[in-house]
Amino acid sequence: MTNIFIDTLNGKACSRPPVWLMRQAGRVLPSYMQMRAEHSFHELMSTPELAAKVTFLPVADLGVDAAILFSDILTIPVAMGMNIDWTEKGPVFSSPLYTSDKPSQLLDVQPDKLNFVYRAIDIFKEQHPDTPLIGFCGAPLTTLCYMLQGASTQASFPRVKHFFYANREEMMRLTDAVTSLTIEYAKRQVEHGVDAFQIFESHAGLLPADVYTEFFLPAVKRIGKAVREMGIPVIFFPKGLGTGLKSITPDICNFVSIDWQMPLDEARRIVHPEVGLQGNIDPHLLLAPKNDIAATMERYKPFFAEHRNWIINLGHGVLAETPFENAKFLTNWIKETNW
Ligand code: CP3
Repeated sequence: MTNIFIDTLNGKACSRPPVWLMRQAGRVLPSYMQMRAEHSFHELMSTPELAAKVTFLPVADLGVDAAILFSDILTIPVAMGMNIDWTEKGPVFSSPLYTSDKPSQLLDVQPDKLNFVYRAIDIFKEQHPDTPLIGFCGAPLTTLCYMLQGASTQASFPRVKHFFYANREEMMRLTDAVTSLTIEYAKRQVEHGVDAFQIFESHAGLLPADVYTEFFLPAVKRIGKAVREMGIPVIFFPKGLGTGLKSITPDICNFVSIDWQMPLDEARRIVHPEVGLQGNIDPHLLLAPKNDIAATMERYKPFFAEHRNWIINLGHGVLAETPFENAKFLTNWIKETNW
């Protein structure tokens, strides 16, 4: 496959940076909203034909250089026996684990519950053999945030921090259980044809960077290693890791996705030089007038002149209220600019 996204991931210098956006298949797309008028999010995600169709929408409508599988990191908690109700306000867990002293004993792992994901990959690759497809999973800490506390409005997950400090051995048992199933999940996504793999650690900032690195980075490394041994490059998104980015070495991942808080130049100074960068436009920039979007993007040009191992993305997911026209303006600007 010759594609600017795959080439850049594999270390080739290309004439412009590739672009895709986290949460690109979602409410920013009028075509997605049309499908959502007829189907719930859960139906779209769990019906392989529909998931494959939604996966391609941002490639067709925004012109991004890669597709990311339309699914969710919460497939793993479901395959471990947890019950999630996908409401219009987001996922609701009927029994979060934090109330139990020994939650690892409550888990009931059923890997077959993930089969619909592999089927969606098969269909997508059959229909779009030339579009790079990114598979993904949640990193174990982030997945456990939801399993322990539920998808609460308290995004700082105080109960998860409490649980980690009060019951560390049990937390590590849970981490191992999630990691084992996630490794199997990642390997099967690769077997079914994903071309790259992203590990979402959206809550890396929950703990001090050295604590995160000691207790949770090893699990990420195990997942990444399993994928890379199959010849597929890995992108790691440790949101909120800050200066802990110094621990992101080539044994962890091929590229690291930088959040919007961290200046990209600064990230480049801290991260190991052989690890490429992805990111890191502030998602709120896409609410600005187009002139301001262009002016902010201009400032990335000197970065590209020095560093070709860079994939453009946002520093977190596309906001639901983003005007489609602005997202489209961004991807067009990137593709039409003389870098
Ligand atoms: O386009 C893509 O990026 C691919 C699909 C994707 C979704 N979720 C679809 C989705 C991906 C990669 C995810 C990852 C995910 N899911 C993360 C990590 C990234 C991040 O944003 O930090 C997390 C934490 C989740 C868990 C999750 N899923 C929550 C908390 C919610 C509700 C809040 C929200 O944003 O709506 C979801 C729902 C969800 N997952 C939607 C989509 C498109 C919205 C569903 C809808 O259409 O109403």
